[in-house]
This record gives sequence, structure tokens and C-alpha cells, in this order.
Amino acid sequence: MALRPTRNDLGENAKKVSITVLNGTLVDMIDLTNAVRMAHWTLRGPNFIGLHEMLETFYNDLFATGDEVAERLVQLGGTPDGTSQLVAEKSRLTPYSQSTVYTLDHVRELADRFSNLAKSVREGIDSTDDSGDADTADLLTGVSRDLDKKLWMLESHLDK
Ligand SMILES: [Fe+2]
Repeated sequence: MALRPTRNDLGENAKKVSITVLNGTLVDMIDLTNAVRMAHWTLRGPNFIGLHEMLETFYNDLFATGDEVAERLVQLGGTPDGTSQLVAEKSRLTPYSQSTVYTLDHVRELADRFSNLAKSVREGIDSTDDSGDADTADLLTGVSRDLDKKLWMLESHLDK
């Protein structure tokens, strides 16, 4: 991995670890943002308006957080995997189905993906902390806390 020169004094290894972790997070977040938007557009069934409006806040939050993630990796000398082609190639999330319609089916599908992303972000907290980049670990800690909150909001729809 070639790093762009910067006065940021973090060690080269720590930068490389963080850029790799942040790019993986960015790609998954863009993929999840699009999945949430698909659900916002296509869901039908009980609780439509509540879910439709909740998901709008979700994709706006994901978009803003993804921006923070991308800008952190640029600050460290990296290049974001931010194009549609790279996201399609590199996302670790299961592809979102175009044919999902029923509200609670969307909630289950999204809950799976929020859980998967939160898990990999937590792994990223540990690896960036171990390599000595406390700032990226701190950023990712905020990201995972927000993903956990959204997972709770999704799962709360699934109780009988
Ligand atoms: Fe909308």
C-alpha cells in the first residue's frame, strides 16, 4: 500500500492498519446505506410510516458517519474505496434483495447487516488500538455505538 506523504506523525504500520480497517468499514457502510434506502423506498405493510421515517434518519446518519471514516483514512495518507464499483467488489455484507417488500422482512434483513457491520467495526477497534492509533479506535468506537443503537431500534420491531 502506497501512502500519501503527510506531517501526521503516526507510525507507518499504524497508518496502514487503520487505512485497511477504515476502508473495509467505509465500503460496508456505503453498501448498508444503499440497503437502508432500498428498504425506505420499497417497504409495505404494518408500521409503514414509522419505519419509512426511521430509515431516513438511518441513511442520513450512515452517510455522515461514512464521511468521517473516509476523511480519517485520507488524513492518514490513504485513498478511499468509495466508488460504486469498488463497493460492489469489496463489500462484506450479503447483497440486498430487490424483491423484499414486507416491513418486518426488511427489518430482519437490515438487523442482520447492522449486526454484521458492528461486529467487524468492533474487531477494527481492537486492531487499530493494538497498532497504536487511538484516534481511529475512538472514531470506530463511536461508529459501533451508533450501529448498536440502530440494531436495538430495528430489533425492537421484531418482538411479538
Ligand atoms: Fe425519502
